[in-house]
Amino acid sequence: MTAPKLETRAFNLWYGNFHALKNVSCSIPPRAITAIIGPSGCGKSTLVRVFNRMNDTIPGVRTSGEVLLDGVPITGEGVNLRALRKKVGMVFQRPNPFPLSVFENVAYGPRIHGLCDGDGLHERVRRSLEATGLWEALKDSLNDSALSLPPEQQQRLCISRLLAVEPEVLLMDEPCSALDPIATAKIEQLMLSLKSRYTIVIVTHNMQQAARISDFCGFMLLGEMIEFGETGPMFTRPKDSRTEEYITGRYG
Ligand SMILES: Nc1ncnc2c1ncn2[C@@H]1O[C@H](COP(=O)(O)OP(=O)(O)O)[C@@H](O)[C@H]1O
Ligand SMILES: [Mg+2]
Repeated sequence: MTAPKLETRAFNLWYGNFHALKNVSCSIPPRAITAIIGPSGCGKSTLVRVFNRMNDTIPGVRTSGEVLLDGVPITGEGVNLRALRKKVGMVFQRPNPFPLSVFENVAYGPRIHGLCDGDGLHERVRRSLEATGLWEALKDSLNDSALSLPPEQQQRLCISRLLAVEPEVLLMDEPCSALDPIATAKIEQLMLSLKSRYTIVIVTHNMQQAARISDFCGFMLLGEMIEFGETGPMFTRPKDSRTEEYITGRYG
C-alpha cells in the first residue's frame, strides 16, 4: 500500500449551523484518478475544496479534524495557502479562463510564482499547452482572447494554466458538466493521460464517467463518506446497500 497523497481524518465542516461534512475519513492514492460521487448537495464540492482550503474564503465556515498532504497537515494557521494552491490546483464546472490572451492565461501562474521569464516562460507555456493537446491547435493564435475559444478548449486551457505551475494534485469539480459528449470524451482522455504524473480528484454526478475513468471512488450521502475504495469492486460488489441503491439508479 503506497502512502496516500491526500488524507482526511475524522473531518467535519459546518456552514454556520449546517453540518456539511460529517466525520469524513478517506485516503487518496497518488498518481491515480479518484472520483467523488453522490447525489446533488451531498458535499462533494465542499470536500474537494477542503484539499486546497478554498472553503476558507466562505464566511461562517468551521472545521474539525485533520487534512494531510503527503502526510503533513494542511489545516490550521501557519499553512502557506499560496504554496498549497500551487501544489493543489483546481478546475471548475464552467471553464473560467481569465479575460486575457491564450498565452497570458498560461503564463499568469508562472509569473506570479516567479517561476521564469523570457524564453523560459514561452517554453513553459508551450509545454503546458502540449500536455493538454492544445499546442498544435493554438500555437498560431496565442495572442487571441481565451474567451473566444470553444468551451472544451477553454477547459483544456484552464488545465494548462494549472500545469504551468507544476502542481502535484488536480482537483476537478464536475469539469465536463458544461461540455457536450464529444468534448467530454476528449477531457476524459486528457485526464487518463495526466494520471501517470498527477494525483487527480474528480467530482462527478455521472456514474458512467466515474466507472470509465477512475481508479478509486468515494460515494457520499448527506455529508458522509459512505464507501471508499477501488472503483471496479465498488461498482460490481458495493459493500453498503446505499451505494448499491445509488449506482443502480434508485435515487440521486
Ligand atoms: N457557501 C455555503 N453556505 C451554506 N451552505 C452551503 C454552502 N455551500 C454549500 N452549502 C451546502 O452544503 C451542502 C453540500 O454542498 P456541496 O458541497 O456544494 O454539494 P455537492 O457538490 O455534492 O452538490 C449542500 O446542502 C449545500 O446547500
Ligand atoms: Mg458540487
